[in-house]
Amino acid sequence: MNPVTFNCTVLRDGHQSLAATRMKTADMLPIAPILDSMGFSALETWGGATIDAGLRFLKEWPFDRLDALKKAAPKTPHMMLLRGQNIVGYTNYADDVVEAFVAMSAKHGMNIFRIFDCVNDPRNMETSIRAAKKAGAQAHGTICYTTSPVHTTQTFVDMGRELADMGADAIVIKDMAGLIPPYVTQELVSALKKDLNIPVWIHTHDTAGLGASTYLSAIDAGVDACDVSISPFANGTGQPDCLRMLALLNGNPRKPDYDADKLIEISEMLKPVYESLGKFASHRNEVVDSDTLRYQVPGGMLSNFRTQLKEQGMEDKFEEVFAEIPVVRKALGWIPLVTPTSQIVGVQAMLNVKFGRWKNITPQAADIALGYYGRTSAPVDPEVQKLCAEKMGKEPITCRPADNIAPELETYKEQFKDIAKSEEDVLSLALFPQVAEKFLNWRDNPHKEEEAPAPAAA
Ligand code: CO
Repeated sequence: MNPVTFNCTVLRDGHQSLAATRMKTADMLPIAPILDSMGFSALETWGGATIDAGLRFLKEWPFDRLDALKKAAPKTPHMMLLRGQNIVGYTNYADDVVEAFVAMSAKHGMNIFRIFDCVNDPRNMETSIRAAKKAGAQAHGTICYTTSPVHTTQTFVDMGRELADMGADAIVIKDMAGLIPPYVTQELVSALKKDLNIPVWIHTHDTAGLGASTYLSAIDAGVDACDVSISPFANGTGQPDCLRMLALLNGNPRKPDYDADKLIEISEMLKPVYESLGKFASHRNEVVDSDTLRYQVPGGMLSNFRTQLKEQGMEDKFEEVFAEIPVVRKALGWIPLVTPTSQIVGVQAMLNVKFGRWKNITPQAADIALGYYGRTSAPVDPEVQKLCAEKMGKEPITCRPADNIAPELETYKEQFKDIAKSEEDVLSLALFPQVAEKFLNWRDNPHKEEEAPAPAAA
């Protein structure tokens, strides 16, 4: 039996989940060559929230990080998380911007694009899949795992088939909330392996304590690769620790061979880094949090919510707001909770409780209801859709949303011609207009300290 392989997420999801995406490139570079020597099937080093966080909080140019990590770890494929038509931002972009961003990332050395869509609409992933392949990189089509009355193993397999038909080189089960139970995993992995002729990878979080058992089931069902991290940027809301997975696999014919001494060495090197990021870490994220099972939402959403409800003076409404989340999801066609839909659903649930159901609708929630984020897994509640159409003064759509977006790249180039010095600058400005402008201003006028991006804040 062929061994399973591991991808190491410590340089991306590990610190995104456990230290608010604040690990600096300088702290990554010493461990990168060791990681590179270990034979991981991929190192997740970029994408997700790291680009926003680099510009916003760390005063780091994201493309410099990628260049530096590629130089420090040249052998192992590098992997990034890409939000399909949302790229690494929060809204849909025109195809030419998606194509330019993917091509630019590949030019800086990105090897594997893990592409997902926040409403699981494969049409929103097609442009990036095509662009990644055109750039000679791998495109991994990603299924956001979620539970609802309309989601079954068969619906996920159908989605996998659609992504494979679009040319995806592998299918990834992305369990952002850490909610997929081991035996469901076994059924899903077996079905995908049986139905599709391409590798199946899995990504989970150990938030509810299920992660490692989920991987065991996936491995027994024939999954090709699992995402692991390295303690202290592992377990809890992060990926299961690599060393723990190796111990769990003792006696399993598919146990892979990763050097435990090196893992311990890296872990020791990372301890002071984790300590230094203490104010972004939380004990709650380090331990098994059964609340995530109780409320069926991602761990990050729970912690954000505790803060936000406090700020709104709504702490006493916690249970009520959480009970409203499935109501909002159902009305919006049972969308998954992942960036940015987790925020959109959360805020709408809060507004429903505060002002009465659908009395106050955010433009983003309305756009989901009207199809501007893509095709949802189930139909949107017609009453809610009608309210949203009235509020926004626009009609629902059923086409691929980006079909309605004219090319934008030249417009951005013109718009930013005074501040952008490269295409990388233009792309960053397109994705994060205010944040990137502030960053570039600071970069190009180093004396103006008052222009420096906002200091790190939780
Ligand atoms: Co994740």
